[in-house]
Amino acid sequence: MDVDALIEWTLEQAIARDERGSPPPKLAAAIRHAVFPGGARVRPQLCLAVAYACDPEGDLLPAASVGAAIELLHCASLVHDDLPCFDGADMRRGKPAVHVAYGEPIALLTGDALIVKAFGTLAEGFMRAPDLMVGVTRILVESIGMPNGIVAGQAWESEDDIDLTTYHHAKTGALFVGATTGGAAAMGADPEPWEALGRRLGEAYQVADDLRDLAMDADALGKPAGQDARHQRPNAVDTYGCAGAVRRLQNLVQAAADSIPACEGSGALKTLVHAQAARLVPAPLAAALA
Ligand code: IPE
Ligand code: IPE
Ligand code: MG
Ligand code: MG
Repeated sequence: MDVDALIEWTLEQAIARDERGSPPPKLAAAIRHAVFPGGARVRPQLCLAVAYACDPEGDLLPAASVGAAIELLHCASLVHDDLPCFDGADMRRGKPAVHVAYGEPIALLTGDALIVKAFGTLAEGFMRAPDLMVGVTRILVESIGMPNGIVAGQAWESEDDIDLTTYHHAKTGALFVGATTGGAAAMGADPEPWEALGRRLGEAYQVADDLRDLAMDADALGKPAGQDARHQRPNAVDTYGCAGAVRRLQNLVQAAADSIPACEGSGALKTLVHAQAARLVPAPLAAALA
């Protein structure tokens, strides 16, 4: 089974488990809407790539449950992020946002259910490796909670004085750190050497998102464009300028690849990081700056 298929299969198992019996139909449909079809699935792919690099011969099923849990947490964050009390976005992944399709109460509960589901998915995935579960759980909690995870990142938007790097790290980078360190921890490897890779890739990814928000339209993005200007969010283009933001992105990707610790699969992982990063800069912008 290839990595993409393993991720989709693990997510499908997780969601289907909640559809047995007689669940509330609207909430069950909204949960499926939020998870399938996916976006780029960047975080679980990163998680599994690190797990494989750490131990190419090892059992990848626990790492797949970490990747799926991270994707479920990411989907939850998007459902809540689109709500009128945050970004008020009516489109996500080329479809109506969950609150547009099912109403705000169901959207709030969809996010809640996905967060709980993420930890349930971990519990299922680590039945055969329970000794590794505590470390992985702590990693995920740090990635999404206070003081440095997604919840904190979203909360910075309600503050007057915001440091861009702190804000970007919490809202986006922290879950990338969860993906790299969680992938290593799932294989019984030391997670700490993998933190820099997640931190740098996460920041690069958010810089790319800021560039796309400015340079692309809603049809191409599958979500509203120009959100940062509309909501006056601190963003990389305002801080560094367009060319400066592209340079920063490229430097972060290089630093990310350089930080990959020596391990069996480090060479292949470096190649993968560069290949994925080449797709991050929006094509019209890359052409204009070339
Ligand atoms: C969107 O993440 C939110 C950010 C942190 C930039 P993605 O760009 O990974 O969204 P999907 O999962 O592919 O839709
Ligand atoms: C979303 O950030 C990050 C989350 C924690 C959900 P944005 O608000 O910048 O991302 P998009 O543009 O809606 O995907
Ligand atoms: Mg937002
Ligand atoms: Mg948003």
